[in-house]
Amino acid sequence: MIIDQEISQRIDALRTHLPTEQALLLPLLHEMQAKAGWISREAMAEAAQFLKIPLARVVEVATFYTMYNKAPIGKKHLQICTNVTCFLRGSDHLLACLEKRLGIHCGETTADGQYTLSEVECLAACGTAPVMQVNDDYHENLDESSLEGLMNRLDQELKNG
Ligand code: FES
Repeated sequence: MIIDQEISQRIDALRTHLPTEQALLLPLLHEMQAKAGWISREAMAEAAQFLKIPLARVVEVATFYTMYNKAPIGKKHLQICTNVTCFLRGSDHLLACLEKRLGIHCGETTADGQYTLSEVECLAACGTAPVMQVNDDYHENLDESSLEGLMNRLDQELKNG
C-alpha cells in the first residue's frame, strides 16, 4: 500500500477545492510517485479504489502523461526534450552523448540503478532550448560542454549519497 495517512490527509484537504473525485487523480498519482518512485499497475488499482473511480480511467491518465513513471527509475531521471525547438538546437546530439556516457539506450536504466535516460516531448521551456529535466530540476541552454559539467556534478552528488 502506497497511500498512507499523510497522503490521504493531503488529498482530503484538496477535496473541498476540486469538483470531483476524478479531479483528485493527478495530485494523488503525484503523491504516490513521490513516495514510491513510480506508478505500478498495483498502484493504479490502489488509486482507483481510493477515489472510487474505474481502474480504466486511472490507467488512461497514468499512461498518457510522461511525468508518471510506469517502471522503476534510477536515482537520477534524465529527461531530455527532443521536440522541434530542442531538436533544432542539438538535443539529438546531446541524447547521443548521454547514451555514450552512460552506456545505455534511451528508455533504459544503468545497471547500477543510478540513471534512467528518457526522451520527452516539449518541456515548455522552448525559449531556453535545449532543455533537460533531472528529477524535478530544469537545465536549460545546454550544449555538449555544459552537459558534461552537469553530468560530472550529478556523478559527484550520487557518490556523496
Ligand atoms: S521543444 Fe524542448 S522545451 Fe519546447
